[in-house]
Amino acid sequence: DLTPSTTEQAEIGIIGGSGLYRLDALEDVHEIALPNPYGVPSDDILVGTLAGRRVAFLARHGRGHRLTPSEIPVAANIYALKSLGIREVISISAVGSLREDFAPGDLVVPDQIVDRTRGHRTTSFFGGGVVAHVSLADPYCSRLRPLAAKAARQATQAQVHDAGTYCCMEGPQFSTRAESNLYRSWGMDIIGMTAIPEVKLAREAELCYVGLALVTDYDCWRAETGEADVTAGLVAEVMERNIAAAKDTLVRLIETLDADPVCSCQEALSDAIITEPSVVPK
Ligand code: ADE
Repeated sequence: DLTPSTTEQAEIGIIGGSGLYRLDALEDVHEIALPNPYGVPSDDILVGTLAGRRVAFLARHGRGHRLTPSEIPVAANIYALKSLGIREVISISAVGSLREDFAPGDLVVPDQIVDRTRGHRTTSFFGGGVVAHVSLADPYCSRLRPLAAKAARQATQAQVHDAGTYCCMEGPQFSTRAESNLYRSWGMDIIGMTAIPEVKLAREAELCYVGLALVTDYDCWRAETGEADVTAGLVAEVMERNIAAAKDTLVRLIETLDADPVCSCQEALSDAIITEPSVVPK
């Protein structure tokens, strides 16, 4: 029985990364636990009103930051958000920069991603008798991306990059200098540990998914210029200084979102399930 265990409804999901564990601007907040067939989400979900819309906020690593990137129950998180009725997800995260002109403090709205995780994460809702192959050619929602970049430019002084390739590594250790240089040579722009499998599972769940990546550091490839190698402390410090820009962007973006979004992301499964309906278990 996949019926959600709540009558609570929301329109927009927000997944907060390192440094974003709550949204003080949320009003009329209901906190709900949403265990589901895919597990227990990272934390209770806070459903509240932001910019006049009902939104569902989830702290990706849990409040208090208890979960490593590899431990995040992403399928449970996406399922829980979907079960609230949301159709769009805004995902906020800290990332390292792999190029000179993406500086700490900048905001990036990624358009592409390369999966460098190690194969241990649950990356699909399918299997177990039902086979589907969704398109990930454009992994992020092409409709929401320009809206997010525009909102960021209107809401903040930060430099905004409206595209970029996100390298998703396993972690929890940061990259070696050789890896950092390798990813640069491959043309990747930013690096983080969490967008996989979120982006994949959101697409399978037919949700529009947009990333708002805050650059916190230059990873470790820039040592020759005297740049300090990334540390967890540096990421936390830069996030703290720039989180207001992310929150302001969030509010501005939500103000611009349609009440009834129409998007190809919401039909991602229409020609993706190849198992014959007659054999799909009831
Ligand atoms: N998150 C923030 N900075 C990062 C980096 N340099 N590598 C991986 N994840 C990060």
